[in-house]
Amino acid sequence: MLVIVKETYDDMSKEAAKVVADRLRKKPNLVLGLATGSTPLGLYKELIRMHKEEGLDFSKVTTFNLDEYIGLPPSHDQSYHCFMHENLFKHINIDARFVHVPHGMADDIDAFCVWYEEEMKKAGGIDLQILGIGANGHIAFNEPGSSLGSRTRIKTLTKKTIDDNARFFAKKEEVPRFAITMGIGTIMDAKEVILLASKASKAEAVKAAVEGPITAMVPASMLQMHRKAIVIVDKDAGSKLGAEFENYG
Ligand code: PGA
Repeated sequence: MLVIVKETYDDMSKEAAKVVADRLRKKPNLVLGLATGSTPLGLYKELIRMHKEEGLDFSKVTTFNLDEYIGLPPSHDQSYHCFMHENLFKHINIDARFVHVPHGMADDIDAFCVWYEEEMKKAGGIDLQILGIGANGHIAFNEPGSSLGSRTRIKTLTKKTIDDNARFFAKKEEVPRFAITMGIGTIMDAKEVILLASKASKAEAVKAAVEGPITAMVPASMLQMHRKAIVIVDKDAGSKLGAEFENYG
């Protein structure tokens, strides 16, 4: 695990964008795993800037998003389809045919999950997966207790995640209770992963993920087993890490 602690959220975002741009320049048909949430917004903003000002080319990129709420149509403003379109896809030259976001309205969710895994395999596997982390240590919607070998499937959201995400909905009751999510095993199959975290509210989860024991109760701790994981955090999210990380950044 390479741990990089940056001074600010902006610095964290730019560092992550540098890695994504580097991999994309080396492999124009990169298979990119994408995340939603507030944390990767700065990264997406920087990628958009690089596309507009430096010609960073996404035309051959294939993307797979980590997760989607069940029961929200793609047109719903809180769906992850909508999030990705608004915050990244509509601003870059990505080919819509190469974009994959789990379908939260699929008739047969189990069959959809199998298909999603097959599409990843057909694309050659994910080259670089972007991840956020929940305050409870979740990655994607793999909540504490998720099987460390899990694949794409339906998951029930925990009360903590529902509370954390309620800020995006008019009422807490509107937050969906279920989601489709890549599994921890799916994420571990990515050739490289970048975990991003910002703010003091993530400091405990970051410490547990990086320095704690590997446990299903902190799904992000499984990344310690990944061969190429980069953890990029701002100073607040990294504030509980051990002294050995003081010189990073
Ligand atoms: P956030 O969510 O980026 O909005 O904090 C991250 C997550 O819950 O995985």
